[in-house]
Amino acid sequence: MKIAVIGTGYVGLVTGVALSEIGHQVTCIDIDPNKVAELNQGIPTIYEPGLGEMMLRNQSAHRLFFTDQHEKGLDGAEVIYIAVGTPQRADGSANLQYVEQAARDIANNIRKSVIVVIKSTVPVGTNLHIKKIMNANTRPGIQVRIASNPEFLREGSAIHDTFRGDRIIIGAEDRETADVLEEINAPFGIPVLKTDLSSSEMIKYASNAFLATKISFINEIANLCEKLGADVEEVSRGMGLDHRIGMSFLRAGIGYGGSCFPKDTNALVQLAGNHHHEFNLLKSVIEVNNHQQRVLVEKMVARFGSLKGKRVAVLGLAFKPNTDDLRESPALVIIPKLVELGAEVITYDPIAANQGPRWINAPAAYTKNIAKALKDADCAVIVTDWPDIKRMEPETFAYFMKTPIVFDGRNCYSIAAVRKARIEYYSVGRPDVVPEVIR
Ligand code: UDX
Repeated sequence: MKIAVIGTGYVGLVTGVALSEIGHQVTCIDIDPNKVAELNQGIPTIYEPGLGEMMLRNQSAHRLFFTDQHEKGLDGAEVIYIAVGTPQRADGSANLQYVEQAARDIANNIRKSVIVVIKSTVPVGTNLHIKKIMNANTRPGIQVRIASNPEFLREGSAIHDTFRGDRIIIGAEDRETADVLEEINAPFGIPVLKTDLSSSEMIKYASNAFLATKISFINEIANLCEKLGADVEEVSRGMGLDHRIGMSFLRAGIGYGGSCFPKDTNALVQLAGNHHHEFNLLKSVIEVNNHQQRVLVEKMVARFGSLKGKRVAVLGLAFKPNTDDLRESPALVIIPKLVELGAEVITYDPIAANQGPRWINAPAAYTKNIAKALKDADCAVIVTDWPDIKRMEPETFAYFMKTPIVFDGRNCYSIAAVRKARIEYYSVGRPDVVPEVIR
């Protein structure tokens, strides 16, 4: 199948590369010529394990191309994916200007009937709105059919999720269109659910909102566990064994971040409000998350009284491991707050350290060397559960730091290991560890 993908951001690039890997002829279009130049040299413009090799393989096999020219990229395409951003507006709603522009670009350039697949996360009803834009702009005699095919990729495991996902959702206005999409995706070997356009759009929002709800729920339980002397990890395990609940997304911590959950939960609240429905449950989920991103700072203030002049090592900047993405990362909240409270902050991240200065709105130092970050620190704060941080012996804190006091927002170490290491340790939803010798 000859396919075009508009937008080479996270979703577009992964989609284009994956579709070429299963044998389709794919051209990815982006308006940014610099990005296209890099991609044409085989350099992936995002950090995603496994993506670079797959991209090169398909470029060498002449199945994957990149261009900044719509006319060239859309020429002969039978199916066109829209995978451009839908950033959040100030009021929380999704900004559709890039999707609308992509629709106009398609309508102005196609010379034959096509299927347009909306991959971007868009509010319910957008697919039909886009169809109207297309119909108003295409040449006479050309038919555009619309399909919705939301993505469920997690950053850092996008390739795995594409080839091993739980389901592929295809929303379409007619059976024939749905069948074409099913055929395109058949080589992935993943179960397909075919549905109507609006339900498909809603499945994406509802799934992300539900996962965010699980996280905020377990974080509230964690906060309660701290007060009642229970251990949230035991509680999660015990709950998760009930298959109706399931183990996943019950890891307590300092809240969710990233490009999807915060944006999609806000957009769904906004969408509900537009239809005179107050989504109170989801509003609370968001509120709980906003508070959760601050709990470590509260614990630090409770421990030290004042943070003035304290040297604080912040371990991890990315919103989660295996990505260099800082969007909505708890680090963006925690670091400026620490600086405001008078702390001197040195941050460590194995991949995202270079991105730090662009994102963190406060003076801080950045390093990819964990020992350098920990050296002579008064305390350490773990923001991201990078594998190298988790693998570290807790004794390491005692070795490098002035005082080995650790605030762990990701519950990286077992309480037993921490006790053995004789460090002072505060995590989320678990007992504090305070050896006499440090006090
Ligand atoms: C998410 C969805 O999983 C994906 O299906 C969708 O397409 C995009 O949004 P992503 O944002 O890449 O993917 O990351 P994910 O692994 O889902 O984690 C999101 C956030 O939740 C991270 O900040 C993570 O640290 C946090 N999280 C996740 C928890 O705090 N606890 C958990 O148990 C799971």
